Amino acid sequence: MSETENKVREIEEKAAEEIGRADAMERLNEIRVAVLGKKGTLTQVLKGMKDVPKEERPMVGKWVNDARAHIEARLEETKARLEAERLNARLASETIDVTLPAKKQKMGHRHPNTIALEEVERIFVGMGYEVIEGPEIEYDEYNFTKLNIPANHPAKDEQDTFYITDDILLRTQTSPVQARIMEQGKLPIRMISPGRVFRADEVDATHSPSFHQIEGLVIDKDITFADLKGTLDVFAKELFGPDTKTKFRPHHFPFTEPSAEMDVSCFKCGGKGCRFCKGEGWIEILGCGMVHPHVLEMCGLDPEEYGGFAFGVGLERIALLKYEIDDMRLLYENDIRFLNQFS
Ligand code: DAH
Repeated sequence: MSETENKVREIEEKAAEEIGRADAMERLNEIRVAVLGKKGTLTQVLKGMKDVPKEERPMVGKWVNDARAHIEARLEETKARLEAERLNARLASETIDVTLPAKKQKMGHRHPNTIALEEVERIFVGMGYEVIEGPEIEYDEYNFTKLNIPANHPAKDEQDTFYITDDILLRTQTSPVQARIMEQGKLPIRMISPGRVFRADEVDATHSPSFHQIEGLVIDKDITFADLKGTLDVFAKELFGPDTKTKFRPHHFPFTEPSAEMDVSCFKCGGKGCRFCKGEGWIEILGCGMVHPHVLEMCGLDPEEYGGFAFGVGLERIALLKYEIDDMRLLYENDIRFLNQFS
């Protein structure tokens, strides 16, 4: 056997042995380049043709080509085997155990404030009211002046708030929505307006610098205090049960005349007096009154022709009472142990 034939055979054997040991696709590629590549060992044999004895030269091409074909076949074979192994390993490692318990999907649920609000909305929408929202950042003019609380009025002190400029503030009440709606002049009006309000209050069990109110406003011809009482009495019975009684105590609000606060009979003891109503038998629930003629005028309505009533309810107060929560802070702390009780 000639020297060249021997050399080609050695190259082929070495390649076969290396391919046999290859355990990764990358390794196969390295072998291919090292043997069959431009500078590969087998290619070098062809390039060394000039040093081969003349009579042998016609054979060299055949030896090299045969060796190349063998090596390529081996490479392909091994590649297919490695691919199959890789796939099997993946299938094994990614098997899904269908007997394992499924991951629990945690469903969210409504916040007690939202539950209470939707209940109030349901009651008033049922009586033909619209639900309207107003801005949380409000003009001093709407929050105070148009509600009969002029500059330097002491009521402004009780409702101190966060001022953005001298005349823009975070609203202290939802009552400014009354002025905004009346100004639009589309009559009659029957609306409630829920939303966030702000006050410079310290946090404690019954106070928060940010809480929610629901405003109510009815404007039409021939609206009387009897309409106010009837409406709010229905509201109380729907919210706290059909046996609930209501009581109106005279009060003062700058934007209503006359004004009142409404108490409901304690739904825990039915009015006998208990720990829940602090022995009173009654629980204060909202402020209300007949819209002040001056407010009507400032909002472009003729008090001789139109009139109506308004009321304001604290949403948190309703939620605390209805769900017997004794600390308002619980509503804002997002403690899942508390919130889960409402799912
Ligand atoms: N805005 C009042 C407050 O925050 C609540 C209120 C009282 C609203 C009487 C009214 C009303 O519409 O008629 O204290």
